[in-house]
Amino acid sequence: MEVIIEPTADAASVLAARIVADLVRKKPAAVLGLATGNTPLPMYRELIRLHAEEGLDFSGVTTFNLDEYLGLEPAHPASYHHFMWENLFRHINVRPEQVHLPDGLTQDVPSCCAAYEASIRGAGGIDLQVLGIGGDGHIGFNEPVSSLSSRTRIKTLTERTRSDNAFAFSTPDAVPHHVITMGIGTIMESREVLLLGFGGRKADALEATVEGPVSQMVPASVLQFHQRVRVILDEAASVKLKRADYYKHVYANKPGWQRI
Ligand code: F6R
Repeated sequence: MEVIIEPTADAASVLAARIVADLVRKKPAAVLGLATGNTPLPMYRELIRLHAEEGLDFSGVTTFNLDEYLGLEPAHPASYHHFMWENLFRHINVRPEQVHLPDGLTQDVPSCCAAYEASIRGAGGIDLQVLGIGGDGHIGFNEPVSSLSSRTRIKTLTERTRSDNAFAFSTPDAVPHHVITMGIGTIMESREVLLLGFGGRKADALEATVEGPVSQMVPASVLQFHQRVRVILDEAASVKLKRADYYKHVYANKPGWQRI
């Protein structure tokens, strides 16, 4: 794992966007795994800027989102379909037919999940997966005690996650209990992972993820087994890391050829 600590979430997001942009420039047909939530929003804003001002071209890119609420239609303001179109897709030139999210209205969850896995495989697999992290260490909606080799499937949200996400709904009770999420095994097959974590509320989960034992209780900790993970944090999210000074030293002294 490479841990990069930037002074602010904005600086961290600009760096994350540069990493995504670098991949898209080198591989115009890149397959991106994308996340929703508050964390990637400043990175999406920077990608939109790079598209508008520097011509970053998404026309060959394919995307797969991590998750979607079950029971919400795409037009629902709290659906992840809606989130992605509002916050990224409609501002860039990605082709609608190359954008994928799980179908929150499916009447056949197992087939829908199997088809999602098949379409990731059919696209050649995910080149770069962007992740946020829950305060309990979840990635995607793989809550604690999710199988570390799970595939895309239905999950039941914890009450903590429902309450964290309630701001997007008219009432806390309106937050669905069920979601479809890529599994941890699915995420682990992506060729590269960018895990973003901002703010003090994520500090405990990030300490457990980076420096704790690998455990189903902290799903993100399985990323310790992935060969190519960059964890990009702001200062506030890094305060519990025991080796923060070392991570900063490593990053400051990287050989030029390793930098993006
Ligand atoms: C979103 C997702 C979740 C979020 C996590 C953090 O697609 O899969 O794992 O990344 O819940 O959410 P925020 O960024 O809102 O703190």
